[in-house]
Amino acid sequence: MADYEIPRPAGGDVVDLILDDHRYFEALLRDLRDATADREAARGALANVLVAHGEAEEEKVYPQLNRKRAITKDEAEHGEHEHAEGNEALLALLECKGTDTQKFDDAVEELATALNHHLGEEEQTILNPARTEVSERVRQELGEAWATRRAALLDEGCGSITNVRAIVARAHREGLLPADDEQAQS
Ligand SMILES: [Fe+2]
Ligand SMILES: [Fe+2]
Repeated sequence: MADYEIPRPAGGDVVDLILDDHRYFEALLRDLRDATADREAARGALANVLVAHGEAEEEKVYPQLNRKRAITKDEAEHGEHEHAEGNEALLALLECKGTDTQKFDDAVEELATALNHHLGEEEQTILNPARTEVSERVRQELGEAWATRRAALLDEGCGSITNVRAIVARAHREGLLPADDEQAQS
């Protein structure tokens, strides 16, 4: 990719907007595997857009689809659980010092595995009901709410290592990720 300027749609059908980001994540992952790409920049862009995308889904899309009875509470919680796993893999990637190491490559593959699983499942179990169980008007409303929240999170620099650490720590406390010994001691 020529540059890593994150697209910032203002609104649209929430299904289309979310799918555009999913394809963007895949393009960024491809660059993170490419030794000739600016992998430092690609990593920064992926951290910001991934966190903004997922948090905005949890705040503005999942609860509303549940309220409209398009998805169950369990499906929404499962999505949050997978976001937490993705954020944990993202944190490991952000903690890599350089980009030319085996550790970096391993962290990219770990994140790609978690992300590919989540994107597939979300498109099948959450976006499909959004396509069939709610009206076009609702999809537009959700699209605007999601895009607005996503843009605000991008403005806050939500993909910083400090913020990703805080999000992962919160997921451990809330039981979305298993409590580990270090967490218990601190
Ligand atoms: Fe998504
Ligand atoms: Fe998601």
